[in-house]
This record gives sequence, structure tokens and C-alpha cells, in this order.
Amino acid sequence: MRIDTAAGSILTDPWVNPAYFASWFPFPDNSQLDWESLGKVDYLYVSHLHRDHFDHEHLRRFIDKKATVLLPNYPTSELEDELREVGFTKFVKTESNEVVELDGGLRIMIQSLTSPTDGPIGDSSLWVEHDGLRLLNQNDARPTDLTEFARLGHVHAHMLQFSGAIWYPMVYELPDGAKAAFGKQKRDRQFDRTWRYIDDLKASWVFPIAGPPCFLDDELWQFNDLPRSPQSGQAGSAGDEGNIFPDQSVFLREYRAIGRDNGVVLLPGSVATITADDCTVTHPVGDLNDFFANKEQHLHEYRDRQREVIAAAHASWHRPEVDVLPELKRRLEPLLEESVYLAKGVGGPVRLDLTDDDNVHIVQSIVVDFPEKQVREAGDEKVRYRFRTRRALVENLLASGEVDWVNSLFLSCRFSAARIGQYNEFVYAFFKCLSEERLQYAEGWYDENERAVDLEDVTLTDRTTGRAWQVQRRCPHLKADLTRFGIADEGTLTCQLHGWKFDLESGRCLTSAGHPLRAQPAEADVKDS
Ligand code: FES
Repeated sequence: MRIDTAAGSILTDPWVNPAYFASWFPFPDNSQLDWESLGKVDYLYVSHLHRDHFDHEHLRRFIDKKATVLLPNYPTSELEDELREVGFTKFVKTESNEVVELDGGLRIMIQSLTSPTDGPIGDSSLWVEHDGLRLLNQNDARPTDLTEFARLGHVHAHMLQFSGAIWYPMVYELPDGAKAAFGKQKRDRQFDRTWRYIDDLKASWVFPIAGPPCFLDDELWQFNDLPRSPQSGQAGSAGDEGNIFPDQSVFLREYRAIGRDNGVVLLPGSVATITADDCTVTHPVGDLNDFFANKEQHLHEYRDRQREVIAAAHASWHRPEVDVLPELKRRLEPLLEESVYLAKGVGGPVRLDLTDDDNVHIVQSIVVDFPEKQVREAGDEKVRYRFRTRRALVENLLASGEVDWVNSLFLSCRFSAARIGQYNEFVYAFFKCLSEERLQYAEGWYDENERAVDLEDVTLTDRTTGRAWQVQRRCPHLKADLTRFGIADEGTLTCQLHGWKFDLESGRCLTSAGHPLRAQPAEADVKDS
């Protein structure tokens, strides 16, 4: 997104090159825009370090290094370090939720989210005001609510993510029917969360952005949301409701179905001109509907243009100089030794089944044993999680010293997974914290979180049974306000921010290990019963 005002231009998250082992490509193809011109800007804003937002190569080649970077306030300096390494030297270091006055009456505010589960330890949104017009580029950040932005006045343009950006449920080794059902739930939740944010802000116009990606490698092609072909039959593969990557045209259709008509879709090269009471849009194609109707053809042509890029990526993965087991021991065991909360949170061994280059045969199985704080050859022990991926990818991660396997291997979707029991956020938190700095931060965050006693309770009424429940106000997951995000239904509380569920009777979290909810029947209900 490039934002042009009379007081200067801001380029946000310019992403063009494939990310995550050449799995994700921008959709629609934006590589043919005039980046020489687009890159001449006054300000650059990179919301966070996920590789579909921070495109090192593109920033290096095309973005004017005289641009001033608008920097979110994160607990580690990694984003600033990487931007300096690319060549940027001018930075406005913001404080979260504080408005900054730039030249010419341009005002900005960046809200930084810093829990270990926000992006690669940090995600953010950018608010911009000029000449009485306000815009919020919420991007893919998930604030608990949008009150910090709403209090600054009516927002005219609200840009937010609506589609999926994760590997769940596609990579899980589940029967197709179950996978499709989980996918549908996930897709519904994504839309519910999007409507919730839109209702929070009540902007004049709403722009679906930040996704979906598209998948051009043949082995990932089935993740694109395309009309189901009779031969395919694969779950999640074909424009069915179990696909978590609905595109902008699906957003518009669903948004209209709930009675809204202020959605605006932008393609690469579209220009929206916004005034206090109008939004006019020009597109690089004649008819948006035609474009989306021909999506499959667009993807085929896009794939043909990128075949060499994908082949080159495959050829670069294998790093024969890396001996995986001793290298994993060397990297992980000191971190396991230091880890209290993450190791306890995982609570059992995690197995990595590493396959040959064709991803057919398992050539090595390694266990990361969190309770024993050890990395070793796998035996026949029961494991909490099992990941299966090419050994070449792990060699590559180890050779490059990657500290965030979420921001590389997991988002690539080039693995499959199985687990016993519930989703465990600590597994992924650990694998995104493979450096001393990150691990210490995450450990400190969980420590503080665990000790923070959140005493405020609120009353929620079960919408089916009519029963009133007294529950803690803040969600045990990431503290969403349950008066806004909580829905009690048939004895289950769902927090709509990430869709976690809690059994009201026992307080047990039904989505992830740990995270109990404080809940009891409300006083009136106790007396009535
Ligand atoms: S804050 Fe994530 S589910 Fe409630």
C-alpha cells in the first residue's frame, strides 16, 4: 500500500518476492508495477519482520534509501537492524499509541503488539491523519480492540486482513473430511473477527488487504482457493468452504451478505482517492469481476513466469555440510536448558521426521525432548507433536542460523504435522525463539503474564440456555476483552479474537493446553438454581 498525501508519501510493507522457501507469492501478481517510481517515497513503514511484509531484496533494489523509516516500538532491535542492513539510515522511532507529528501537518500513530505470539515477536498497525482525513492500516495485526484509534476521530479508510495466513489445518495429518470441517470453522472465524474489527471502527470505507497469498509451486498449488475441479477431490483444495485463503472477491460477497456495501477491493495498480465523503477508485483492469472470474488463468500464467524462481529455490535448500543432529543439539540444548515456561508449556517430546529430497522416505528421526532438555535420535517414545519435513529444509535453517522457524519453515507449509491432544502454542513459540534474546523475552513475557492477576470479572449470558456466567474479563489467551469478543453458547465460551474455546462449567481451555478460564455461574443464577 502506498499512501500519498499533500504532506508526503508513505510506502507500507512492499512485498514482491516469494517468501518462506518460495511458498508464498503476493496475489495478485504485483511484480510488474513501476517499482522505480513507487519506491521514491518520503516515508517507509514495515509493520513487522514476517517475510511477506519485510522483503529484503525488494527494499534493497527499489526503495529510496533517503526515505525516513517509521519504526514500531518492539522489544528487540531486529527490525531496525535489518532495515539498517538494507541501507536505511533515517528513523522515526515511535512509542506505541502515541501520535507523532511529521512535517506539513502529517500525523501518524503506530500501535505495536509485542506478545510472543504477535508476528515474529512484534506486529503493528499504522494510523495516518492529514487534512482531517484518517486512515488505519491495521494490516494483519490483532489488537484486542481498536479504541486507541477510534478515540482519535472518525476513520475514513480502514485496511485490514480478512484471509488466512497460517498452516492450519492444511498441514495436519487428518482425514479429508475433518480437515475440511476445521478449515471451514477457521474460515468462518476469520470473517467473524474481521466483521468485529470493522464494527469497532465504523470507518467510511473498508479495504480487504494483507492476503491471501497464492501458492505457485506445484506441490502447494492445492492451497489456492480455486473452483473445485471434478478430478481434484482434495480437501481444502478448491474454492470450497474448507479453504482458509478466500480472496478479495469472496470478502466482498460475504460482506454484502451481512448487509454492507462500503467494501473496496484494490488490485496492484488500483488507485483509491479518498475525501471526507467520497471514495473513487480506478483499476488497472476493466472489470474486477472478470479478473476474479479468471483467477485460475492468472495463477497459471503467474506460475509460468515464476517457474525458474521456484526451481532455483528448490536447488538451494540442500546444505550437505550440515550434520543435522549434532547441529540441532548445539543450537537447541542451551536454549532448552534456559527455558522454564516454554519447556513446561510444551510438556513433552516433539519429534522431527526428516525426509529425503523427494519428501517420500524418512531418513532421520530426531526428538526434541522438552522435559529432559535434550535433543537425540528418536526412539519409540510417545510424542506431543510430530513434524515431517524435508531434511534439506532443516539443513538450510541450520546453515543460515535461522532464529525463527515460524517465519521460515512453518509458514512455508512445507511440512505435515500430527499431535496428541490440543494445540500447544508453546511449541511454536519455542521454535520462533531460537536465540538468546528472543528466548529471554518470551520467558519474561510468560512469567509476567502468569503472575499478573487479572481480577476483574464480567457477566456473560449464554445465548442458548440464557444462563448467566461470571467470567474473568480478559481472555486467558492474549487478554482480549471478553465483553467484546466473548460469546457464550451452550456452555462454551468462544473468544472471537482467535477463536479459542473454554468450557464454562470447568473453566478448561478446549483449544490449547493450560490457559484455564475463571468462570462460575453468576450470583443471580446461583440463587435461581
Ligand atoms: S485473545 Fe486469543 S482467543 Fe482470546
